[in-house]
Amino acid sequence: MSDLVAKPEVLGQHLLSISDLEHDALVEHLEVAEAFCEVERRSVRKVPTLKGKVVASLFFEESTRTRLSFETAAKRLSADVLSLAVASSSVKKGESLRDTVETIEAMGIDAVVIRHSSAGAPHQVARWVDRARVLNAGDGWHAHPTQALIDLFTVRQALAAQEGRPSEGTGTELLAGRKVLIIGDIRHSRVARSQIDAYVLAGAEVSICAPGTLLPAGPADWPVTVVDDLDVALSQADVVSVLRMQEERGSGSFVPSLGEFTATYGMTERRAALLKPGALITHPGPMVRGVEISSTVADDERCLVRRQVTNGVPVRMAALFLSLSTPEEAVDG
Ligand code: NCD
Repeated sequence: MSDLVAKPEVLGQHLLSISDLEHDALVEHLEVAEAFCEVERRSVRKVPTLKGKVVASLFFEESTRTRLSFETAAKRLSADVLSLAVASSSVKKGESLRDTVETIEAMGIDAVVIRHSSAGAPHQVARWVDRARVLNAGDGWHAHPTQALIDLFTVRQALAAQEGRPSEGTGTELLAGRKVLIIGDIRHSRVARSQIDAYVLAGAEVSICAPGTLLPAGPADWPVTVVDDLDVALSQADVVSVLRMQEERGSGSFVPSLGEFTATYGMTERRAALLKPGALITHPGPMVRGVEISSTVADDERCLVRRQVTNGVPVRMAALFLSLSTPEEAVDG
């Protein structure tokens, strides 16, 4: 860890959307995450990197893995974590988001990790805070940058393992030119939007496949190909990203029935058998087994879902480290 030196221009920035990142910053996140994997292997899984810093975690929407891994990441870096339980906070008394954020900033926090059902909420928070850095943990349908970083990191690691070499130092080389196919509820998916930005930035070719009602409005403006024939697309893909039906955003009413969605777009065993050797499957979780992915495919070794969860901690350590460090602080002891 002592040689962990990040480029000054990627330090001290909010992490709101992958579209704000240059290629260098994407690579920096992947490489720093790789360095933090080493901490995960130590008997004492803690480094003093963010000692004295305070990270507030504000989740206005449900979360299991994102919240736990952000908080674990902050603790592994020795930051203090303030976790606002929104359901029992003054938000329930009608306090506005702005007042909530200004209240916690007045306590001297250094970072706000925020998930909100409204697209743009983290951007708004970033305009209100003075010194704190804001990390977007998912806003409405809009963006989920750390999930996309986890997905690229995990795929890069798996591709390096296939080639029998370490992934450290490979930048986006292993991702460039790969065919990435995203299937499912793309319309309501912040993960899809961030994945598209990240994979395109890494030089991959992205295609999407979904029922017409679950495609985004105006997909022609996106840097993706919309595919109709899922079976053909599957047989050509290097990476398949399977997405959950966002029932809480009303996705169920966009398809005749969940059974029909599964039959037409689900990652069933028959469809998994169409994949070429070495093809990888990702899922951001939570999975709804039997709807967008069959239980057998979810447990198949080609499916990286558990490794994505494991990698959530080092990738979010990297995001916190890069956002909270100044050039002088960026060398960890
Ligand atoms: C995703 C999310 O919340 O956007 N989950 C996650 O963060 N791991 C995807 C989803 O909920 O389907």
